[in-house]
Amino acid sequence: MRSIVITAITGLVGQALVGAAAKLVFEVPDTPYLVKWTSQELIDHGRVDPFNSSHARRLMISRFTPVPPRECKRTCRRPWIEPGIVTEIEEIFGPPLYPHGWPEGIYGDFEVEVCCDQKTRKRDFPVVLFGPGLNATRHIYSVLAQNLAGMGYEVITMDHPYESNVVRFPDGSKIYGGRITYEWDEEDPDDPLMAWGQEVRVADASFVLDSIGVGPHDKVVATGHSTGGAAAAALMVSDTRVVAGINLDGTMYGSKYGRLTSGVDRPFLLLASKTHTFTLDRTWEDFWQATVTNHPGTWLKALRISEAQHTTYSDFAPIGDMLGLRRTSFCEITCWVTSLAPGP
Ligand SMILES: *[C@@H]1O[C@H](CO)[C@@H](O)[C@H](O)[C@H]1NC(C)=O
Ligand SMILES: *[C@@H]1O[C@H](CO)[C@@H](O)[C@H](O)[C@H]1NC(C)=O
Repeated sequence: MRSIVITAITGLVGQALVGAAAKLVFEVPDTPYLVKWTSQELIDHGRVDPFNSSHARRLMISRFTPVPPRECKRTCRRPWIEPGIVTEIEEIFGPPLYPHGWPEGIYGDFEVEVCCDQKTRKRDFPVVLFGPGLNATRHIYSVLAQNLAGMGYEVITMDHPYESNVVRFPDGSKIYGGRITYEWDEEDPDDPLMAWGQEVRVADASFVLDSIGVGPHDKVVATGHSTGGAAAAALMVSDTRVVAGINLDGTMYGSKYGRLTSGVDRPFLLLASKTHTFTLDRTWEDFWQATVTNHPGTWLKALRISEAQHTTYSDFAPIGDMLGLRRTSFCEITCWVTSLAPGP
C-alpha cells in the first residue's frame, strides 16, 4: 500500500470531517490485478454453535478475488464498513481513538474501490485465509486483503460470531461478540479461555476451506492479525491443507494449554511490532522452542517491522495517513511501516 487519496476533501482533516457527506476512498492498490469483493454466509449444518446450542454454527466471510484488468468491465465503490453495523463499530472502535484526533462519526464514510463487473472467466488463485484480531470485525482488514489479492491471491477474511464484536448476516440478523475475553498477564500470557476460543476459530477456518472447495491436496496459506495469527498456527497443526503460516503480531495462545504445545512442522513466520519480544511474550518463546525441538529443520523465522504498532497490521494504518494523523498520538496506536529488521 502506498499513499492514500482523499477524494473531494483534500486538505480537510479532523473536525472538518464530522458529519461530512464526502467520502474517504482508499487508493486502488498498484498491483497486477484488480480485485472483486463479495461477502457470503456459510452455515455449518454439522456443528452446533459452541457459544449457542440453539442453532448451527454460521459464519460470514469476505472473498477478495483477483481480476485481470482487461477482464474488469466496471469498477465501483463499496462502503468499507457495511452500513448495517456502522453504529456498533463507532461505539466499539470510536471512543479509544477520539483522544488521538479521530473524528466522530466517520466510520460510514470510507469506501473501497473494487471491480464489480467481471467478464466471466474462471480461474484459480492460491488461497490465503485471514483471521481477525480478538473481538475485531473482518471489515477492518478489507483493504489489507484487497492489496494482497491484487498480487494474485484469493484472500478470504472471516468473522467468528460471538467472539467478533458484531457480525451481520444477509437476513439482517446480528450476533454480538465479547464472549472470549482476556486480561494480559506478563507472567503467564497463555490462557485457557483464549485457547478454547482458538479451537473454535480452528473449526471455523477448516469449515471455511471446505466450503470454498479447497481439497485435500490444495495448498493454502493461513495468516491473521493478533489472535488471528495464533489461530493460523493452530490451524496448521490440524489441517494439512495449510502449507505455511504467518502470525501478524499475535500472542500464541495455546502454546501451553492448547494444540500449539507441539509447535508446527511447516514453514512459519512471526512478524512483530516495535515492542513485541520473546521476553515480553513467553508464548512466542514456547512456540519457538516447541517447533525447533519437535520439528527440527522446519523453516521458522521472526521478523520485526521496526516502526510498526500492533494495529499497523490492519486498515487503520493507511487511514492514519488519509486523515493526516501521522504526526499525532494516533501514531502511538497505529503507525506506518518503515523497515524490516531481524527480531525479536
Ligand atoms: C442463541 O440464539 C438464539 C437464536 O437462535 C437467540 O434468540 C438467543 O438470544 C441466543 N442466545 C444467546 C445467549 O446469545
Ligand atoms: C467486544 O465486542 C463487544 C460487542 O459485541 C463490545 O461490547 C466490547 O466492548 C468489546 N470488547 C472489547 C474488549 O473491545
